Amino acid sequence: MKFFIDTADVAEIRDLASTGLVDGVTTNPSLIAKSGRPMAEVIAEICSVVPGPVSAEVTATDHATMLREGRYLASIAGNVAVKVPLTVDGLKTCKVLADAGTPVNVTLCFSPAQALLAAKAGAAYISPFVGRLDDIGAVGMDLIADIVEIYAAYDYKTAVLVASVRGPLHVVEAAKLGADVVTLPPSVLRQMYKHPLTDKGLEAFLADWAKTGQSILGPETDAA
Ligand code: E4P
Repeated sequence: MKFFIDTADVAEIRDLASTGLVDGVTTNPSLIAKSGRPMAEVIAEICSVVPGPVSAEVTATDHATMLREGRYLASIAGNVAVKVPLTVDGLKTCKVLADAGTPVNVTLCFSPAQALLAAKAGAAYISPFVGRLDDIGAVGMDLIADIVEIYAAYDYKTAVLVASVRGPLHVVEAAKLGADVVTLPPSVLRQMYKHPLTDKGLEAFLADWAKTGQSILGPETDAA
C-alpha cells in the first residue's frame, strides 16, 4: 500500500519524507489556501522534496479552462498528477490529459457509479472521500469495497486512493480491502506509530538497561 501525505505544508512534508515512508503528496485548493503561498511555487517545492506523484488541482469548472490549467500544472514538474473534480467537464478533461500521458487524479468521488466513470476516462487515481461520507452518517469504507470490487472485475488500472482519512482505523480498513493508496493528514501518519504498550515496554527495557551500566557504542566500536 502506498502512503501519500495530504497537505501543502512543505515543512511537514520534509519532516515526514525523512521517514522514507512517503510515496506521494495530495493537495487541494483548501490546502493551498491554508499554506498562504502561491500555488505554482508550493507545488514546485513539494515536487522537489518528494519524487512520487504530487496532486495539484485545477480550479476552473469548464472543460476548456480546466484543460489549460491542467496542462500548466503538469508543466511545473515531471511528477505532478493533475487533479480534477468528478464532474462531466472534469472527466472530459481527465480523458484528454490521460490520453496524452498525463496522470490524472479524479477527486470528490462519493459513489461507485462515479468511480466507474473515472476509470473509463482513464484516471490514474480515483479519490473516494471516506471521512466526509462518515460525517453524513454513511459508511465511507463501503464505497472503497465497492470500487475495489468493480475495478478488479474489469481489470481497470485506476488506483484506488482513499482520501478524507480521519484516523489510523481508516488506513487499516482500507488496507484490508486492498486499496492501492491512502492519503494521510500528517497527524494520522504520526498517530499510526503510537501504541501505549510500545511506550511502556520501551520504558521498562531502558530502565533495565541503565542498571547494567553498559553502553553498546564505545571507543572499541567507533571503528566499526
Ligand atoms: C484528498 O485528496 C483530499 O485533499 C482530502 O483527503 C480531503 O480530506 P478532508 O475531507 O479531510 O478535507
